[in-house]
Amino acid sequence: MTHNPPPPKVALLPETAPFTPEQRAWLDGFFVAALGLGDSGITPLSPQDSAALLAGVGAAAAAEEDDGAPWHDQTMPLNERLKLAEGRPLRRRMMAAMGQQDCGQCGYNCQDYADAIFSKKEAKLNLCIPGGKDTLRTLKVLYGEMGAPTPTLMPAAPEPALLPSAPAGAVGRSRDNPTEAVFVSRTLLNKAGSAKETWHLEFDLTSSGIDYEVGDCFGIFPANDPTLVASVIAALGVPADFPIKGRPLRDVLTDTVALGLAPDSLFQLYSYITGGDRRQKAKALSSGEDPDGDAATLDVLAAMEKFAPVRPDPEAFVEAIEPLQPRLFSISSSIKSNPGRVSLTVDTVHYKIGKRTRLGVASTFLGARVVPGAPVKVYVQRAQHFGLPEDPAAPIIMIGPGTGVAPFRAFLHERMATKAPGRNWLFFGHQHRDCDFFYEDEFSGMRAAGALTRLSLAWSRDGAEKFYVQDRMREVGRDLWAWLADGAYIYVCGDAKHMAKDVERALVDIVAQYGVRSTEEAIAFVNDLKKRHRYQQDVY
Ligand SMILES: Cc1cc2nc3c(=O)[nH]c(=O)nc-3n(C[C@H](O)[C@H](O)[C@H](O)COP(=O)(O)OP(=O)(O)OC[C@H]3O[C@@H](n4cnc5c(N)ncnc54)[C@H](O)[C@@H]3O)c2cc1C
Ligand SMILES: NC(=O)c1ccc[n+]([C@@H]2O[C@H](COP(=O)([O-])OP(=O)(O)OC[C@H]3O[C@@H](n4cnc5c(N)ncnc54)[C@H](OP(=O)(O)O)[C@@H]3O)[C@@H](O)[C@H]2O)c1
Repeated sequence: MTHNPPPPKVALLPETAPFTPEQRAWLDGFFVAALGLGDSGITPLSPQDSAALLAGVGAAAAAEEDDGAPWHDQTMPLNERLKLAEGRPLRRRMMAAMGQQDCGQCGYNCQDYADAIFSKKEAKLNLCIPGGKDTLRTLKVLYGEMGAPTPTLMPAAPEPALLPSAPAGAVGRSRDNPTEAVFVSRTLLNKAGSAKETWHLEFDLTSSGIDYEVGDCFGIFPANDPTLVASVIAALGVPADFPIKGRPLRDVLTDTVALGLAPDSLFQLYSYITGGDRRQKAKALSSGEDPDGDAATLDVLAAMEKFAPVRPDPEAFVEAIEPLQPRLFSISSSIKSNPGRVSLTVDTVHYKIGKRTRLGVASTFLGARVVPGAPVKVYVQRAQHFGLPEDPAAPIIMIGPGTGVAPFRAFLHERMATKAPGRNWLFFGHQHRDCDFFYEDEFSGMRAAGALTRLSLAWSRDGAEKFYVQDRMREVGRDLWAWLADGAYIYVCGDAKHMAKDVERALVDIVAQYGVRSTEEAIAFVNDLKKRHRYQQDVY
């Protein structure tokens, strides 16, 4: 049904206001009525027209909110980000609460995740992995401003039948709709003497029905370490096959819930079932305080040990912990050079706290537990603005220390497979040349074949002083500038917290020095490269 509002008698909105004539007429009438300026001439809108009007207002608001998101910096602490967003619309403050990595682990970028929560299309507030508990706490407070009760968080232990039955998107294309790939093999990339354990992993995609582009990430649904699962079951003091909504407790603890950092809700549970001083401590921990200075060390098992011998009811316990989330890994292969296969380059996370070694769940699942031939729940996450230039002749500069080299191995394989004529320059770095030079033979072969035009290396722990990829970039700044002047695309992958920022600073300095510009002009130059997608990052 179309609706033609009669013209209001007073026009309040300026001609330039970003509304259609119908919207302007209706809004003018609305304000006239609200301000008591006379007969508004308002005719009630149909639900459809209201929705259309609101959508228009939303788009206009979004345009007005083109505020540059100054908090969108993954190295900025949360309190500073929130300060920068003070006084802004709620959904912008929600965006400032996110981890700012645009890493895609939540299934969105930071802005879209905030918008989805604000518009109530997304009910889960606990999806931001880089932001962790701080982001979750802040989102809960901000959500409260909408005057709505906090939505139920992602249910921790859904029975398989309760998992979303008709998830959006194609199979294997999102975390909500995974498929299965077959794990094929793992090969250690470090040599004896390395402090690291980084694996080259291969999966068979032939029965999965998915493919990918270089630059995409692979999402993996991991399983928890069985030794840790057994310790948690022992701490609960019930049999491993204790039924939780029809599934054995052991299975639920293996593939459904997260046993990493204890969530606020687990401490909340302990605050109900303990008494006295311990109750106060549990309460304090549940609201983000740190009464004993050990909060950062309390994974789920350590929290259970802290409050032993009190034991929660297994069902209440499972409800109180977070769901196990998938992890993303940069794809390090090209399907064009290796059809039906995908490879990853994964550093295993392990560290000791007290007597117990803590294991990163996904990296050690891949590095140690999954056996060749086993099916693994996976999906491909399309890269947003991280991929090879459309013009195969455009030169590319790739900066990827450590596991950051992963997508660049993929780029090189793709450029070889497609016989792209563009020049390729790789900056790689790690701790020691002797034991941490990933894919050394491959890269040497590519150099010899002319596929890798230039290879610049930086070994951080081989000399008396640290030497990083950005130090090497500065050394060859003149050439780097010449490549940029020739239209090169520049890519950075790896650590988000320090490396990506330091590399960007080095690039600004190089542009200033060799491009003969002031620092401000060099910053503007680099920002312009970003805007035109000639400077792309995949950082985590
Ligand atoms: C877009 C994207 C691409 C990625 N690509 C790759 C890739 O190609 N290769 C790769 O290896 N990784 C990659 N990652 C990282 C990967 O997704 C995982 O975050 C990483 O493997 C760790 O996950 P995990 O499950 O093993 O560890 P988790 O179980 O998540 O544990 C990690 C957590 O342990 C804690 N922790 C870690 N070390 C310590 C310590 N020393 N002391 C105290 N606490 C500590 C921290 O809280 C940390 O967040 C990528 C991430 C993103 C977002
Ligand atoms: N949260 C963090 O702060 C952080 C940092 C790094 C990695 N990680 C995680 O560690 C895992 C694997 O890391 P990785 O194997 O890719 O190796 P990595 O730990 O990132 O190290 C790769 C190389 O980068 C160097 N490096 C350290 N700081 C740098 C900086 N500011 N600028 C440039 N180079 C720098 C390292 O040197 P030195 O080690 O000798 O300093 C090393 O030579 C990933 O899961 C990643 O998320 C986390």
